[in-house]
Amino acid sequence: MTTRTSLTIVLAAGEGTRMRSSLPKVLHPVAGRPLLAHVLAAAPHGEGDKLAVVVGPDHQAVADETSRLRPDAETYVQAERLGTAHAVLAAKDAIARGADDLLIAFGDTPLISSETFARLREPLRNGSALVVLGFRAVDPTGYGRLVVEAGQLAAIREQADAGPAELAITLCNAGVMAIDGRIALEVLEQIDNANKKGEYYLTDAVGIVRKLGLTASVIETDEDEVRGINTKAQLAEAEAVMQTRLRQAAMAAGVTLISPETIHLAADTTFGKDVTIEPFVVIGPGVSIGDGAVVHSFSHIVETSLGKKTSIGPYARLRPGTSLGDGAKIGNFVETKAAQIDAGAKVNHLTYIGDAHIGAGANIGAGTITCNYDGYNKHRTEIGAGAFVGSNSSLVAPITIGVGAYIGSGSVITRNVPDDALAVERNDLSVREGWAKRFREAKARVKKPKES
Ligand code: UD1
Ligand code: CA
Repeated sequence: MTTRTSLTIVLAAGEGTRMRSSLPKVLHPVAGRPLLAHVLAAAPHGEGDKLAVVVGPDHQAVADETSRLRPDAETYVQAERLGTAHAVLAAKDAIARGADDLLIAFGDTPLISSETFARLREPLRNGSALVVLGFRAVDPTGYGRLVVEAGQLAAIREQADAGPAELAITLCNAGVMAIDGRIALEVLEQIDNANKKGEYYLTDAVGIVRKLGLTASVIETDEDEVRGINTKAQLAEAEAVMQTRLRQAAMAAGVTLISPETIHLAADTTFGKDVTIEPFVVIGPGVSIGDGAVVHSFSHIVETSLGKKTSIGPYARLRPGTSLGDGAKIGNFVETKAAQIDAGAKVNHLTYIGDAHIGAGANIGAGTITCNYDGYNKHRTEIGAGAFVGSNSSLVAPITIGVGAYIGSGSVITRNVPDDALAVERNDLSVREGWAKRFREAKARVKKPKES
């Protein structure tokens, strides 16, 4: 048993070839968060641990996301896509600094946990020079097969290079590897590209370690934790696994999910106590839900904070920048964006509230629209506490409706309304007694009414 402390982590996050997308593979989201972000969150964060992320050429967006999530990380560019070992060696400078352990992971396995990363390093303490994370695949197609002889890992054979006996192996390479830092660079530099694909395979490190007379070993984990994402179909499978996990965690924390399999959560959704979520709700990133809140069916919520005892939907669409004070209520067919809606305010039907602040206890009638956009700029609407906005009003921003003010239904409001004032914008109502009856009689003399 040796003491090993220092650690370098290399994360290969260059391009995959089969996503058929202009978005870099590792920026595709699972549960509202990029694949890369999931792996970075699980990767060791110990003090002194060095993290190097290898990105593909023209992938500034991946480098930016890396520094946003882990400001301590170094990024290296792999100019050509020549294989996983070639990708890892793009971070040669980081590896050459020589930590006790080198941990290598891929940016396309978002379901991996921090416990597994920690477990992978253990055999290095007991004399292994290299440890591979393995799993039993239901369908091993596409994965590297782990060839085990006499209880030791002898080689990893990639799909393209495997013979029939090797293809039948279901123990597969998850793509995560720990190598003794003292030999890591030497081993990686011996890898060549003499294989069917002409790529530098990281997996060849196993054979090289064995040739040096050292031991390679395997630790196993569940397939669901290490699904690698090469295609859109695999992206969808990972999403399904992640959603199941998130729903179970929410229910374990006391959230009532009615028909959980129809509720879509994000990796960062937070819940208070006694929250209820009805069937068919989609929650995107950046949502926090307060104690006792109820989210009714068919609501769609992104970057929103819901206060205690709020009620949303059915059919509410809460867009980024929405925040609801305690007891506020958003009803059906209401859309909000950049809207602060204070405690007890109600926006119950068929309304758009954008770039607005609604004071506590205000009541916004059905069909109210904040006209926030003039085709060039967005403007703000301020509605005072306790104000009453009658149905089908248009509030042409920038505009302020005073505290306790009253807006007559159907008004188009273009000037500020003082506190406690009534504003009504309407033509005089004209009522002509008997007109409709006379109209019908005149028409009936020439034509029968259409059957409906
Ligand atoms: C790799 C493994 C395979 C394993 C599987 C697990 C090799 C040769 N094969 O295959 O044994 O079962 O992962 O998911 O290692 N990358 C780069 N630059 C490159 C090539 C890849 O940055 O030149 C990155 C990719 O973005 C990806 C990761 O490395 O995140 C893995 O590459 P990928 O092409 O997906 O390897 P697989 O064919 O899945
Ligand atoms: Ca892969």
